[in-house]
Amino acid sequence: KEESTVSITVVGASGDLARKKIFPALFALYYEDCLPKHFTVFGYARSKMTDAELRNMVSMTLTCRIDKRENCSEKMDQFLKRCFYHSGQYDSEENFAVLDKKLKEHEGGRVSNRLYYLSIPPNIFIDAVRCASSSASSTNGWTRVIVEKPFGRDSDSSAALTRGLKQYLEEDQIFRIDHYLGKELVENLSVLRFSNLIFEPLWSRQYIKNVQLIFSEDFGTEGRGGYFDHYGIVRDIMQNHLLQILALFAMETPVSLDAEDIRNEKVKVLRSMKPLQLENMVTGQYKSHAKGGTSYPAYTDDKTVPNGSLTPTFAAAALFIDNARWDGVPFLLKAGKALHTKRAEIRVQFRHVPGNLYNKSFGTDLDQATNELVIRVQPDEAIYLKINNKVPGLGMRLDNSHLNLHYAARYSKEIPDAYERLLLDAIEGERRLFIRSDELDAAWELFTPVLKELEEKKIIPEYYPYGSRGPVGAHYLAARYNVRWGDIA
Ligand code: BG6
Repeated sequence: KEESTVSITVVGASGDLARKKIFPALFALYYEDCLPKHFTVFGYARSKMTDAELRNMVSMTLTCRIDKRENCSEKMDQFLKRCFYHSGQYDSEENFAVLDKKLKEHEGGRVSNRLYYLSIPPNIFIDAVRCASSSASSTNGWTRVIVEKPFGRDSDSSAALTRGLKQYLEEDQIFRIDHYLGKELVENLSVLRFSNLIFEPLWSRQYIKNVQLIFSEDFGTEGRGGYFDHYGIVRDIMQNHLLQILALFAMETPVSLDAEDIRNEKVKVLRSMKPLQLENMVTGQYKSHAKGGTSYPAYTDDKTVPNGSLTPTFAAAALFIDNARWDGVPFLLKAGKALHTKRAEIRVQFRHVPGNLYNKSFGTDLDQATNELVIRVQPDEAIYLKINNKVPGLGMRLDNSHLNLHYAARYSKEIPDAYERLLLDAIEGERRLFIRSDELDAAWELFTPVLKELEEKKIIPEYYPYGSRGPVGAHYLAARYNVRWGDIA
């Protein structure tokens, strides 16, 4: 469409997310020739800044992929020339009206499409949407708004936010990001399941003993304590990133790859789950720890965290899906900050091989012949299947080896950042990887009661040292369901 334009306005342009993720992702898309011919990027924020200052700020964060160094600085200059700045209040219709004028000048009479990325705190989402839609929305093309969590703190506040947004926008104009859905291996989950005959028949309670969804970071809330303390790890990671992966993992085959068909299946599986019970959950908080002459802070040492805060920085939970496919299979979720490693993975532990012939006949060291499929979302993306294998030689000894699809070895291409895919999809109107409002409601229903109980009863988290493997309680929780965490090796 030669004669249409896209104007991308990053509202909250000087914030962390904008600088670290949004501008670099837009540049990467530009470099890859994925942006439409006519596009402009506007930064919108309260502080006074010139276009040159914005360009300077943005230029500091742009990088080129290792395999794309050619013409990189030239491309950066071209990209920066398309970036502009407009200073305004987030709740001022007049300020947005001036933005509208500027956008029109750039659009030069072409069909105007407008994308707003709200990279601002959620308490001002609705004001910004009101002003953008009344004073700076497109009159002859589409207007879309990208929002990112937190979407409220519980069912009620989330529903209120949705109602507020829907005063000014239709559901199909709202693009709710969960950036984990933009990660390569999360997107690949459906490919793995639905285009390989060997997996889908095993994808049920008949063969799968448990599923583990694990997120760990090896740093604390450094600098983000103010935000984090209001939400905690359950709202920050579990209710969204891990639950989204769970839904994709466990959903039934969608009618098609159409966004509505996929989201219908995700909602169905979320609605088949029982709300999380307090006894199926363990919470933790990191405490200070000295190692090798360095001392690592406690969560509550952060100046922006209130003294004596009980906010969990770690949580483990067992969830169940009440449907024919998954009846009785524990889905164990674990998320934590300031742990010993940085990793996100899905682990599928299969049932024992019935009869266990090799153990009986040869007394091999494998007491239980099981398989485990691991999907390592990050870092160092990989999919591997642990199988029992004969150790070569004259005897009969078995070991556990990996059939390994290691992305760095198999694919030479650098993997795009999640935000690139999501921004591109929003520009193209592809909604598959965005959260629909009924999905969001279903996700909150699972966690709202337990969060309320945790907070009302002032449950004390189990303290764990910074850089450790987290609270032992997580092991007791898993043991209750006859599960051993697969990531302890
Ligand atoms: C964000 C959380 O959604 O995801 C952060 O708010 C977390 O607390 C981040 O650090 C992790 O994302 P990634 O892509 O670095 O794994």
